[in-house]
Amino acid sequence: MDLYEYQAKDLFAAHGVPVLPGKTVDTASEAERAAQGIGTAVVVKAQVKTGGRGKAGGVKLAKDPSEAREKAEAILGLDIKGHTVHRVLVTEASDISEEYYFSFLLDRSNRTFLAMASAEGGMEIEELAVERPEALARVPIDAIAGVDRAKAQEIVQQAKLPAAVADEAADVIVKLWDTFVGEDATLVEVNPLVRDPQDKVIALDGKVTLDENADFRHPGHAELVDQRTENPLEAKAKSKGLNYVKLEGGQVGIIGNGAGLVMSTLDVVAYAGESHGGMKPANFLDIGGGASAEVMAAGLDVILGDDEVRSVFVNVFGGITACDAVANGIVEALKILGDDATKPIVVRLDGNNVDEGRKILDDANHPLVTQVDTMDNAAAKAAELAAAGA
Ligand SMILES: Nc1ncnc2c1ncn2[C@@H]1O[C@H](COP(=O)(O)OP(=O)(O)OP(=O)(O)O)[C@@H](O)[C@H]1O
Ligand SMILES: [Mg+2]
Repeated sequence: MDLYEYQAKDLFAAHGVPVLPGKTVDTASEAERAAQGIGTAVVVKAQVKTGGRGKAGGVKLAKDPSEAREKAEAILGLDIKGHTVHRVLVTEASDISEEYYFSFLLDRSNRTFLAMASAEGGMEIEELAVERPEALARVPIDAIAGVDRAKAQEIVQQAKLPAAVADEAADVIVKLWDTFVGEDATLVEVNPLVRDPQDKVIALDGKVTLDENADFRHPGHAELVDQRTENPLEAKAKSKGLNYVKLEGGQVGIIGNGAGLVMSTLDVVAYAGESHGGMKPANFLDIGGGASAEVMAAGLDVILGDDEVRSVFVNVFGGITACDAVANGIVEALKILGDDATKPIVVRLDGNNVDEGRKILDDANHPLVTQVDTMDNAAAKAAELAAAGA
């Protein structure tokens, strides 16, 4: 999960990383009041989960509260790379002597963590990385040894940060490592990390990605989820413990058991859809090994709640959970859903106990359910029904 800048900086502050005081607001008049409270010149910053806000006009200096109101008015509602600005951070304006770049990230290809740092930070860091890669230090971090003061000093040296700020910068880097590890992040980025005229080192911006697999260790992280931008179907699926991803622009709902099978089901449906008016898969949903009636009902409930869905394809290969258990799950699920089940459902069963499974569905004779023997034919049928349901 990516965090907003203000959330990232709240985490920084909790780990002792110096940040400037600020307040997050959603209206221009609140921005004016926030600026009054801060009492100095401020910077009004768009809170969106994308880079390049400054260049897009989403970061503006305001010398007094009424100017803060004007700038907030200009920024709120702005579209930055497809993200609408609903909220701005009003924060103390800093005098900046120098801008540096710093990040910790997960380096998957080298199976390690990586620190990246440069004495030339700021808004042009992407260009710098391409045009003068030698100006961006890359220091591998051993996951067990982590970052102590000595390691932090090594990073500072390689990044060629000036001697006057070396100690402070090393101190901040250790605290950023505490944030990275302590919060189970996969990315902590500060651009710019600034030197002020008193040689203080401050995180002026912050970008953090949290590892959702570690959510169980951080009950507090649930509060960081932005309900406004989260897809409501994904939120519902998550609350039911389902492995669901909404795909934009699809009409065929997909349920399968096993991530690999679901992935190939998406491909087969997309291919079959080409002959049926361009129908596409509407989601990824892996109900995993134990396809109980409850899980099947929860899955169907989420998929049928998707207004774009016109047909559903249930593609199951019986293994440890045999086809008869899955078939019973489907029958029970349809009983649980009752009148909420309204769209045609194509079921393809194969594998362990397939005959028993198919018989259970035949006997149940549910008006919405069609059985098809092979994956290709079932995909074609689901696409055909979706096209007919337009
Ligand atoms: N509190 C502040 N005081 C003074 N200048 C600031 C402050 N915050 C940001 N700036 C200036 O604005 C520039 C852009 O700000 P920031 O890094 O937060 O956004 P960005 O880098 O454009 O956005 P993104 O990180 O999304 O790419 C900074 O490089 C800095 O020069
Ligand atoms: Mg930045």
